[in-house]
Order: sequence, then C-alpha cells, then structure tokens
Amino acid sequence: MTTTPLRMPSVAPTFGRVRLRAFQERDVAMLRDMSTDPYVPTIGTLPADADEADALAFIERQRQRLTTRTGYSFCIADATTDAALGNAGLHLTQIATGRATAGYSVAPKNRGSGIAGQGLTALTRFGWTLPELHRIELYIEPWNIASQRTAEAAGYAREGLLRSHQEIAGRRVDMLVYAAIRADGPDIGATRG
Ligand SMILES: CC(C)(COP(=O)(O)OP(=O)(O)OC[C@H]1O[C@@H](n2cnc3c(N)ncnc32)[C@H](O)[C@@H]1OP(=O)(O)O)[C@@H](O)C(=O)NCCC(=O)NCCS
Repeated sequence: MTTTPLRMPSVAPTFGRVRLRAFQERDVAMLRDMSTDPYVPTIGTLPADADEADALAFIERQRQRLTTRTGYSFCIADATTDAALGNAGLHLTQIATGRATAGYSVAPKNRGSGIAGQGLTALTRFGWTLPELHRIELYIEPWNIASQRTAEAAGYAREGLLRSHQEIAGRRVDMLVYAAIRADGPDIGATRG
C-alpha cells in the first residue's frame, strides 16, 4: 500500500464561475460565516460559531487529508477574484472499491447563485482524473432540497432512499443516495454551466 501523500492538482479544477483550490489562512472569515449555519457543524468537523483558532485548525485538518490519503478537501473560490465561497471534498476512504463520496457547503453569504452545483461539477470532473475511481456518491437528507438540486445540477442521479442510514446531531436519519459514474464521454458531471 502506498504511503505517498496525495497532491493537489497542479491545475485548479474550474467550472463556471468557480475554481477549486487548497484552503489558505485568508479563508478564515468565510469559514467563520459558514460555521454560523446550524447544519454545517453537524456534517463535518467545523465547529458551530467557529472562532479564528477553530477555523485555522479546520484548515490544518483539510491539509492532513492529503497526508493521510483520506481525500481532497477544496475551497470553492471565485474563479475571478479568488474569494473563498465554500468547500467541496472528495472522500477516498473507500477508494479500494473504486468508490468515493463527495460533500459540499457554501457559506450563507454566498448562497443562492448555484455556486455549489458548479463546485460539485468541478470536483466530479477532477474525480474522473483519478483512474481508480468509478463511482462518486452523495448522501443527502430528504428535507435538503437545495442539496438535491445541487446534485442534479452536477449530473448526479438519484438512486434511492437509505432508511435510518446514520446519526446526525443525535438523531437517526434517512439519506437519499445520489451517484455519478465514470463514463466514456468527456462531459460527465456537467449538465449545465
Ligand atoms: C446545499 C448548499 C450547498 C447549496 O448551496 P448554493 O450554491 O447556495 O445553492 P443554491 O442556493 O444556488 O440552490 C441550488 C438550487 O436549490 C434551490 N433551493 C435552494 N434552497 C431551497 C429551498 N429551501 N427549497 C427549495 N429549493 C431550494 C435553488 O432555487 C436552486 O435551484 P435551481 O437549481 O433550480 O436554480 C447550501 O445550501 C449549503 O451549504 N447548505 C448547508 C450545508 C449542506 O446542506 N450541504 C450539503 C450536505 S448533503
């Protein structure tokens, strides 16, 4: 088993108005805004109402994912200004099976203009550059319509409902599973710009 750290792509994955890059310390304000969303802390490691130290620790944990080969955690940034807008991650703990899961959030100030769909499209296209990857899964709670719309915008297909799939914030929840699979065409993962 290889222990070489993963490396961020040399060319930042880009789609529409966003590009995916490594988190930088200057992204702290965006992360603090993101942490004010009550749902975000329940689905990741960014604590609620993060202070500067919490946000910096989060950034360090994202870097460690490369070292531990557990995945790629990208900042979704504005392709023109490079301002941080959200995050998109490809989680590779199941990569031996050819599968990965993806996750994303957009800071409240930056919502409502399709950023997540563009970030997920860029992430998905990047995923297909990993030759061992054949399937990317998303797990979305049934109430989370914005996330379902995001998945569909990035070309993911809804496959079904997984009942009592996991615990979030102390309650057992159902999850919709969406997936994209590797295909021959170059445009997989993007149904609209
Ligand atoms: C889900 C999330 C990433 C979407 O971010 P976004 O880029 O701002 O998405 P948008 O606001 O552009 O919404 C995408 C679509 O959902 C629709 N939508 C947004 N909120 C909605 C709501 N409450 N009810 C119904 N539709 C909604 C939008 O109209 C848009 O539809 P369109 O594709 O037809 O234009 C963001 O809401 C978020 O970070 N939520 C908290 C974290 C989270 O849930 N992450 C995903 C976990 S699976």
